[in-house]
Amino acid sequence: MYSSSFRSFALLALGLLPAVRSATLEVVVGGPGTLRYNPESVTAVPGDVVRFIFQQKNHTATQSTFEAPCVQAPGGFDSGYIPVAEGVTEGFPAAEFTVTTTDPVWVYCKQGTHCQAGMVFAINPGERLAAFKAAAAGGAAPTTASPTSTATTGAPSSTATGTDIKVVVGGPGSLTFNPSNVQAQVGDTITFEFRQKNHSVIASSFEAPCVPLAQSSPGEAGFNSGYFPVPDGQTTFQTWTVRVNDTKPIWAYCPQGNHCGQGMVFSANAVEGGSRSFQAFQDLAKQINGTSNTGGGYGNSGALHTTISGASAAFAAVLAIVALL
Ligand SMILES: *[C@@H]1O[C@H](CO)[C@@H](O)[C@H](O)[C@H]1NC(C)=O
Ligand SMILES: *[C@@H]1O[C@H](CO)[C@@H](O)[C@H](O)[C@H]1NC(C)=O
Ligand SMILES: *[C@@H]1O[C@H](CO)[C@@H](O)[C@H](O)[C@H]1NC(C)=O
Ligand SMILES: *[C@@H]1O[C@H](CO)[C@@H](O)[C@H](O)[C@H]1NC(C)=O
Repeated sequence: MYSSSFRSFALLALGLLPAVRSATLEVVVGGPGTLRYNPESVTAVPGDVVRFIFQQKNHTATQSTFEAPCVQAPGGFDSGYIPVAEGVTEGFPAAEFTVTTTDPVWVYCKQGTHCQAGMVFAINPGERLAAFKAAAAGGAAPTTASPTSTATTGAPSSTATGTDIKVVVGGPGSLTFNPSNVQAQVGDTITFEFRQKNHSVIASSFEAPCVPLAQSSPGEAGFNSGYFPVPDGQTTFQTWTVRVNDTKPIWAYCPQGNHCGQGMVFSANAVEGGSRSFQAFQDLAKQINGTSNTGGGYGNSGALHTTISGASAAFAAVLAIVALL
């Protein structure tokens, strides 16, 4: 039912501009090494136009539902696949969707596993974008519904065959994943239970423990739970689940403040002892990103230039305070 309002940019360029005054909200889809919509959500009123501008590589903007983020909604709009060659820097194809409601509209990229890698978008999501993304990641949607949530959270379509491994994240006075290294088989799931205060778990790499995998290794889509703030005194906790896809080690960290530099890192299937053990990974996180270091690089990413110099004692103190927030 939405397809008639979903037009190509080419048609608009021929002069079929809407007569009514409305806002046009631009959203960039993909781009080199990017599996994202940018921005990931917009607030719009009926009559506004959302213009999806397609960049590399070959994406869609497809309507889904909150309950099933990576499944096309019956009758929902779909741009179809819009491939954009490497090296193109202008004249990107676009597709437009005219907003007809103030209710949320949920959108995903149906290419490969882009949706599961977090390539989702929403119009008027309210407070529910993080839950939508978490559900898209294959995971279980939060077990505790957020107070503002009116819909039931989506059940993952996958049927569990493996073991579920529980990991507690944070807690009063704790900046740890517990356990911090687990052994997992393909098909197992790892369920992170978020406790105080406000943590997240993001895939990284051994070489760059405190940098998202998607950033240190463009093209590799790492998982990202989003933040789970937990007030003091709360005793029921939200969880977020990731499926183990292969036997390679999984490296991950909490991106809050300088939690990573204080050793709040996690691994699955790291070998015991030696140069690529959990302990070596945690040591590297502290060494690269700790408050007491004197700088240092990580791998060959070169995307970040953070160096803490000897003159940064005050900065280090600020980081330590932030970590307690
Ligand atoms: C874009 O992706 C679709 C679906 O995977 C595929 O059928 C199509 O061939 C791709 N187009 C290009 C130019 O790669
Ligand atoms: C497993 O694959 C899914 C789908 O691509 C992805 O969302 C998830 O992050 C992957 N799990 C890990 C541990 O990388
Ligand atoms: C949790 O941390 C994130 C990242 O620092 C921040 O954007 C968010 O506002 C925090 N949430 C709460 C409720 O403190
Ligand atoms: C240090 O950690 C922060 C937060 O996780 C991250 O944003 C930053 O890129 C890290 N810096 C380095 C050099 O790893």
